[in-house]
Amino acid sequence: LFAGETEFLKGVVAMSGLPEADRIEVCFAGRSNVGKSTLINALTGRKALARASNTPGRTQEVNFFTLADSHYLVDLPGYGYANAPLAVVEKWQALLKRYLSGRANLRRAFVLVDTRHGIKAVDHEIMSLLDSAAVTFQVVLTKADKLRGTQLETILSQVRGELKRHPAAFPELILTSSEKGDGIPTLRATIAGLV
Ligand code: GTP
Ligand code: MG
Repeated sequence: LFAGETEFLKGVVAMSGLPEADRIEVCFAGRSNVGKSTLINALTGRKALARASNTPGRTQEVNFFTLADSHYLVDLPGYGYANAPLAVVEKWQALLKRYLSGRANLRRAFVLVDTRHGIKAVDHEIMSLLDSAAVTFQVVLTKADKLRGTQLETILSQVRGELKRHPAAFPELILTSSEKGDGIPTLRATIAGLV
């Protein structure tokens, strides 16, 4: 699946702009700066397909990428904090929530969580929304290169415990580093398996 062409299709700012729901779709949600755009680049092997940056609030639209004509990958604006005016941030958040709860072909949402920080209150809020909408979600831990050993084990067991309160959570975690490539083949295989 990932050996084929990947392309940027469009950036969407309103529900009316969404492409037709005619193929399998997965999305990447998570707090600002958690590494969503960087992960899409790592998955597709394209350095700058999705625009990443050290400044929280980089991705401001719902960005669609086509994968081998059979899937969409969707890069979402972050939640939690951003270097943008409040009114603008609120607009993205409203779209994000509408998208996450109202997309028929959304097969799985990957909720990215920074390995150093674990699940925060804003993550639980989004996860509860996914529970209500019955959208299966799976946690992808990012920036695993920043932690090791017992610290990593502690976070993993905390995250596993906290996911038990979310009925829509897929129990398996995927530990990744876009920097080092760890977990990227596993995530590719997981997406390819969603047919
Ligand atoms: P928004 O679009 O603002 O919501 O952020 P995002 O979640 O798309 O984050 P983005 O991919 O832009 O990455 C944010 C920062 O984290 C960048 O400086 C990346 O280089 C860095 N980063 C992303 N993934 C990793 C990783 O696996 N390891 C390390 N060390 N840094 C990473
Ligand atoms: Mg981004």
